[in-house]
Amino acid sequence: MRLSNTLLLSLSVAISNGAPLLEIREEKNSSLPYVRIFGTGGTIASRGSSGATTAGYSVGLTVDDLIQAVPSLADKANLDYIQVANVGSNSLNYTHLIPLHHGISEALASDDYAGAVVTHGTDTLEETAFFLDLTINSEKPICMVGAMRPATATSADGPMNLYQGVSIAASEKSQGRGTMIVLNDRIASGFWTTKMNANSLNTFAADEQGYLGYFSNDDIEFYYPPVKPNGWHYFDVSNLTDASEVPEVIILYSYQNLNPQLIVKAVKDLGAKGIVLAGSGAGSWTATGDIVNRQIFEEYGIPIVHSRRTADGTVPPDDAPEYAIGSGYLNPQKSRILLQLCLYSGYSMDQIRTVFSGVYGG
Ligand SMILES: *[C@@H]1O[C@H](CO)[C@@H](O)[C@H](O)[C@H]1NC(C)=O
Ligand SMILES: *[C@@H]1O[C@H](CO)[C@@H](O)[C@H](O)[C@H]1NC(C)=O
Ligand SMILES: *[C@@H]1O[C@H](CO)[C@@H](O)[C@H](O)[C@H]1NC(C)=O
Repeated sequence: MRLSNTLLLSLSVAISNGAPLLEIREEKNSSLPYVRIFGTGGTIASRGSSGATTAGYSVGLTVDDLIQAVPSLADKANLDYIQVANVGSNSLNYTHLIPLHHGISEALASDDYAGAVVTHGTDTLEETAFFLDLTINSEKPICMVGAMRPATATSADGPMNLYQGVSIAASEKSQGRGTMIVLNDRIASGFWTTKMNANSLNTFAADEQGYLGYFSNDDIEFYYPPVKPNGWHYFDVSNLTDASEVPEVIILYSYQNLNPQLIVKAVKDLGAKGIVLAGSGAGSWTATGDIVNRQIFEEYGIPIVHSRRTADGTVPPDDAPEYAIGSGYLNPQKSRILLQLCLYSGYSMDQIRTVFSGVYGG
């Protein structure tokens, strides 16, 4: 399959380190499906100084290196790949996410591919997973994989995660399940799942919503039939080509003695078109902060979404002040992406409210 000119152009903007853009491999086995792998970097593509090094390493391997390191991938699928970026995931932004989106959309729209895999740093993997889940409406699976230990670690987790990711992308069992994440044998929902632990291998979870499935030996075991999460909403971003078209949304974090002027700075000086609050408890802000927030809302009319700084739980629509919006079960970083997609799509305040209230228990 050839890449469209638009995609090639946006990829050449995103990629910075001169790695090959696209490698098409010879078909090795006509009885196996095709899977396209999109490499973005991260710990899975990193090298450390010794086998015991599990912190303080740097990205140094291409997606081609990752594939070569797992010869048994050839038993699961015929593979080709696109190197979209090669950085830690904290350096990823919409300049990378837009071509990643278009690259996956093109591959899945083609009869040639059964599914797609994205290799990604774990730090912001949940954000990319959420964005892809809401913007790619395909029956075919997208599986995100990363690693918590660099490729040089004595017991690196990346090779198995990549193998399981390709298995998911190649399997008919995975259809209709949107964007998934696989790490440490667990198959997780890209919509709900978040990084829970800064260091441990079993870092991806959605404590309340659970996992979608598990790898038992080489078998994919799904716990449920395919279903969309309550609150899932499709956004058509097929015309989105430039990161500057995505409205700025800033997240503010709650704490005792918080400076109520932060929202003023965010809106007046930094040009935020929407605000997400990582509020305390069920999304609450300080009393003086609420007064300033209301003034900003009345002056600028921008959406203010109350999410929570707690690890889990919900901000019901009624728990936010009446001018504001509750994030439902979405954490601040996922709320930000949902609000950006609403604003990009030109939704009214009422439409935005409806989209977010969908994430409150359906
Ligand atoms: C092709 O893949 C199938 C299914 O995994 C396997 O049974 C067969 O041996 C493979 N053929 C070759 C030539 O590798
Ligand atoms: C994304 O990061 C790259 C550097 O990797 C930078 O050149 C680009 O301007 C950033 N894009 C946005 C939208 O911030
Ligand atoms: C994308 O652009 C085309 C051409 O201008 C237009 O017809 C179409 O409605 C646009 N799609 C969306 C979702 O905005």
